[in-house]
Amino acid sequence: MSTIQPKAVPAPALSVLFSREEIQERVTQIGQQIDADYKGQSVVLVGVLKGAAIFLADLARSISVECTFDFVAVSSYGKGLNSSGAVKLIKDLDQSVEGRNVIVVEDILDTGITLGFLHQMFARHRPKSLRIAALLDKPSRRIQKISADYVGFSIPNQFVVGYGMDYAERFRNLPEICIMPPDFPE
Ligand code: XMP
Ligand code: MG
Repeated sequence: MSTIQPKAVPAPALSVLFSREEIQERVTQIGQQIDADYKGQSVVLVGVLKGAAIFLADLARSISVECTFDFVAVSSYGKGLNSSGAVKLIKDLDQSVEGRNVIVVEDILDTGITLGFLHQMFARHRPKSLRIAALLDKPSRRIQKISADYVGFSIPNQFVVGYGMDYAERFRNLPEICIMPPDFPE
């Protein structure tokens, strides 16, 4: 496994889990799958801020069917590595998704608590269809029974950063997905 040295100081050398080429190849494949699934229709990509912003930007450019964006924000893990278990909506949709094909775009499906909450919430809007695209899936961590319709990569129980994902808001701009050492100081 290769490592990168983030330029921001101080920063540890981080092990690369997925290179930018591997990510781009997989995101392109998901875009092609979405095109096939929604041929002749339009979709609304609903990104979950902030972690999914970069995935959504790349995924949207891999999709040829008509596509619009919206974003929601929910309470996050805060600075640490562990969830508080409670989800709070911080930013709602700008527009109704009633009768639309909704794809919720998320960085990681972990315990499933966040996407379980959002899926229930969006279902109440009576969309035409409702699917989930998660760049990463950590199935071993699941508490709530939920799965994604489009998954980039399944990964073991490791905390990752880069490509939109953060540790205390750092490292979101890394082009690679890297493993965060568990002993990294907050
Ligand atoms: P749940 O547990 O609700 O969590 O499925 C989903 C959210 O938790 C965050 N998360 C991570 N963020 N590296 C991150 O930067 C990780 O390894 C990680 N695991 C979970 C993420 O915001 C996700 O949306
Ligand atoms: Mg997230």
